[in-house]
Amino acid sequence: MQTYEKLLLENKAWAQEMIEDDPDFFKRLSDLQSPEFLWIGCSDSRVPANEITNTQPGEIFVHRNIANLVIHTDVNLLSVLEYAVVHLKVKHVIVCGHYGCGGIKAAMSNVNYGQVLNMWLRNIKDVYRHNKEELNNITDENLRTDRLTELSVVEQVERLAKTSIIQKAWKQRNGPDLHGWVYGLKDGVINPVYEMKANSPLDPLYEYHDF
Ligand code: CO
Repeated sequence: MQTYEKLLLENKAWAQEMIEDDPDFFKRLSDLQSPEFLWIGCSDSRVPANEITNTQPGEIFVHRNIANLVIHTDVNLLSVLEYAVVHLKVKHVIVCGHYGCGGIKAAMSNVNYGQVLNMWLRNIKDVYRHNKEELNNITDENLRTDRLTELSVVEQVERLAKTSIIQKAWKQRNGPDLHGWVYGLKDGVINPVYEMKANSPLDPLYEYHDF
């Protein structure tokens, strides 16, 4: 059997199990999704949103990219954000990074990964530059990487708050709250590192007033 065929076989068994537990499960979900959470996570195969939060299909709307970055020219991320915030009206947006992130490590190195990856990872290098003093004082390389992972998550949450999508929702419905989390590959535990409740103060330079 090919490896991918195992996936299809396992899928059949899973669907069967779900129906045995809850005969209406798929029918209910196929009619409607009303997740409370938008998850922006790393593409890393070891950080699957549903498994690590013990949630079911239908509970989390998910976007994943390398190193869980929020980039204001990323049409993919912005359309997910707009759909989740404006149409699904999620109550929480979670940016979840993870310790041991290959994207963060790559950005800290001087390796040339080719133009496309260089362009993506440069966003993390910028976070490093903005926090150079703190980071350069951490002599242990793993600890420095971990700290950059946390600082990057903070930056991504703040970038969410700088979008007109979030600001408009904050004005109109006092939500969603924004959360920055970091997952530990070694222990499976999520460390909440940052939070911006709806209508948290912003640098006025980034505020929009005409909603
Ligand atoms: Co990663």
